[in-house]
Amino acid sequence: MNLDNMKIPNHVAIIMDGNGRWAKKRLLPRVMGHKKGVETIKKITIRAHQLNIKVLTVYAFSTENWARPKDEVNYLMALPKDFFDSFMPELMKNNVKVTYIGNADRLPEDTKKILNRAVEKTQDNTGLILNIALNYGGRQEIVQTIQDISQAVFRNEIKSEEITEDLVDQYLMTQHLKPYSNPDLMIRTSGEIRLSNFLLWQLAYSEFYFTDVLWPDFSTDDFDQAIAAYNKRQRRFGKIS
Ligand code: FPP
Repeated sequence: MNLDNMKIPNHVAIIMDGNGRWAKKRLLPRVMGHKKGVETIKKITIRAHQLNIKVLTVYAFSTENWARPKDEVNYLMALPKDFFDSFMPELMKNNVKVTYIGNADRLPEDTKKILNRAVEKTQDNTGLILNIALNYGGRQEIVQTIQDISQAVFRNEIKSEEITEDLVDQYLMTQHLKPYSNPDLMIRTSGEIRLSNFLLWQLAYSEFYFTDVLWPDFSTDDFDQAIAAYNKRQRRFGKIS
């Protein structure tokens, strides 16, 4: 698809849904859908880089996903290793910087180590930020933010009347993405129409794009179509024109 002269969103956030159904349709174990889903992340990351998108946030594991069978959780927790082992040269070549959001405390030590190594290795890259949401929950993020701000008030570092939207932005897990901490476009694959506790604060004014395509089948062309659809929307931020 030709995206010349199209407005490119600065920050795209994606709920990568439908891996299990993709596998089921092929009579494969669910985890095969996740494996294929990792390949989709690679393709979309490169496409986002080509389009000069500034931030791509992908929802890899929610705080609710711990309730899945143990084998599946273990498989998901091992995926960052496969991903970075095979994709790091490409990430470096394309100047991609890796960051992550979520509660790292509960992640297995190995997973944390792999992630931190990728963050460190790419920290001086200046292109696209690939921001991975892992053990992330929007409500938990807001609760954490409230706790942090109230402690700062208690220590007299800020006054309660100084709590503004900008200040909240500075305490959220997306603070490092400034000035692009709020996604312009949120894509969810697989036909589900809900937010599932994803970036609740940050998505307040984002455009939403839902597609029936399952994440493992999601192509760069599907991604371009989402951006073309975004171009047809008029973002008014509550104003009338
Ligand atoms: C939703 O599909 C997908 C997930 C819960 C996991 C998404 C994770 C990846 C694609 C890989 C993450 C890896 C890295 C390197 C960050 P589902 O299993 O809920 O699908 P279903 O709704 O069809 O069952």
